[in-house]
Amino acid sequence: MKVLILNGSPRKNGNTALALSEVRKTFVEEGIEVEYFDVGHLAVRGCIACGRCGELEKCVFDDIVNTLAPIFRECDGLVVGSPVYYASANATLIALLDRLFYSTPYSKEMKVGFAITVARRGGTSATFDELNKYFTISGMPVVSGQYWNSVHGMLPGEASADEEGMQNMRTLARNAAFLIKSIRLGKEAYGTPVREARKRTNFIR
Ligand SMILES: Cc1cc2nc3c(=O)[nH]c(=O)nc-3n(C[C@H](O)[C@H](O)[C@H](O)COP(=O)(O)O)c2cc1C
Repeated sequence: MKVLILNGSPRKNGNTALALSEVRKTFVEEGIEVEYFDVGHLAVRGCIACGRCGELEKCVFDDIVNTLAPIFRECDGLVVGSPVYYASANATLIALLDRLFYSTPYSKEMKVGFAITVARRGGTSATFDELNKYFTISGMPVVSGQYWNSVHGMLPGEASADEEGMQNMRTLARNAAFLIKSIRLGKEAYGTPVREARKRTNFIR
């Protein structure tokens, strides 16, 4: 059982990394393997809506997105961490997630997911909502914790003083580990949910 963790901060040793290290440590304690990537410092371009991924089954831009795609496929869960920039996620991370979710043809159903956000003061809930959208359009059960998933800090290292936020990181990882194990057992006992043929309407008369 394995999870993919993405650090969307350009600061590899910043507060998001600190919060994610608590998540990572707890996963390991729970017997869940972790693949960890710092992605916020990379030059990741946005989706250009070319649609080529429909034929290629990967993104036309061969960068970190195509590196992560097969890893995400093998994982039972995804954790995304982002610093809050203007009450939103880091733009690099959004560019990456748009392309990763759009270009990968495989099902993400029943891979668990959660997002964590890190800010000095404001915009954490908006960013949390923004990141949860990737999970909830993909049939991914969203893991909850003991609060909306945020940690506070400004300068690198300050997040360690947010005891409640850091405790929530551990709670989230424990809940995710429990869900991953439960879903594995559930699949063996009951199989995966029946899927109807997809209806797709664009609201055009
Ligand atoms: C461009 C930019 C925009 C930011 N916008 C916000 C914001 O909207 N709200 C906030 O509380 N902090 C904001 N911050 C502060 C960061 O969220 C904060 O320093 C956080 O700890 C960064 O996480 P990191 O150390 O993982 O990079 C901003 C920082 C930058 C560089």
